[in-house]
Amino acid sequence: MAKVIAVANRKGGVGKTTTAICLAFFLGRRGKKVLLLDLDPQNALWAALCHSGEKGSGASGALELVRGEASARDIVQTTRLLNVDLIPFGNPESVTHQDESLFAMPRKRAAFVRVVASLSKKYDYVIVDSPPGASALVEFALLLSDSVVIPLQCQPLALRIMPRILRDIKELIVSANPRLTVEGVLLTMYDFWQPISHEIADQVWSYFPKKSTFRAVIRKSPAFERIFDSEDNPLLQEELDEELLDYDVIADLVVSREESSAESRKQP
Ligand SMILES: Nc1ncnc2c1ncn2[C@@H]1O[C@H](COP(=O)(O)OP(=O)(O)O)[C@@H](O)[C@H]1O
Ligand SMILES: [Mg+2]
Repeated sequence: MAKVIAVANRKGGVGKTTTAICLAFFLGRRGKKVLLLDLDPQNALWAALCHSGEKGSGASGALELVRGEASARDIVQTTRLLNVDLIPFGNPESVTHQDESLFAMPRKRAAFVRVVASLSKKYDYVIVDSPPGASALVEFALLLSDSVVIPLQCQPLALRIMPRILRDIKELIVSANPRLTVEGVLLTMYDFWQPISHEIADQVWSYFPKKSTFRAVIRKSPAFERIFDSEDNPLLQEELDEELLDYDVIADLVVSREESSAESRKQP
């Protein structure tokens, strides 16, 4: 049974989708079977990882599943990344406001959870990307998951939103998903040349409990911007840009945490 990890933060542009893709990629490179689930109506994962340049509005995904237009079998797509499959959000051109409310309906949610549980038997990890804001989709992503990675962009604003992030997670754990743990707050777009980046890291690392942060950062680099480029994806190049490997360190931490918690579950 796969471990389900959401990538979430109410703020947009902090590196959620980049984190979902890179974490999936490096887990896959380690031989882990990964299923990416895109719960962001922008459907960016399909465009980046499956689309080969020709015009097209997208394959069926989570949206068509909750609408009852597609079955579990139809929605899993292979990607260009080794060992990584994808459930796209679905055809973004057909999304309406009502669609989002489908993800809030208990009956639809329960059916979706069953589909993910059954698919997850074939995978080691399910990584769930979520949209910004506080929508039914974000709530559902966290409800589905065992843990959450919270990307935090290295900017002064990060310090102001820290208390809210912690409060949101605590509320969710109490109200909706007692199983949810914080996999880690992850500092993204870290600039070694900017003293503010070091200050933010110090403050974030002292604010959150040690087990809830990754004591490793993701550097700011143009290499990450090309991850959304379906023609020139740097993850598909033979020699990886050094900065991309920052996510390999995070993948390593995720796997070793999982292995040590499996080990402690085995002990009498
Ligand atoms: N480590 C990084 N260094 C430089 N640019 C980054 C980095 N991570 C993400 N980006 C860029 O920042 C923008 C927002 O990233 P994205 O992953 O889409 O954030 P979110 O999903 O939270 O909205 C994108 O243009 C992406 O290419
Ligand atoms: Mg995103």
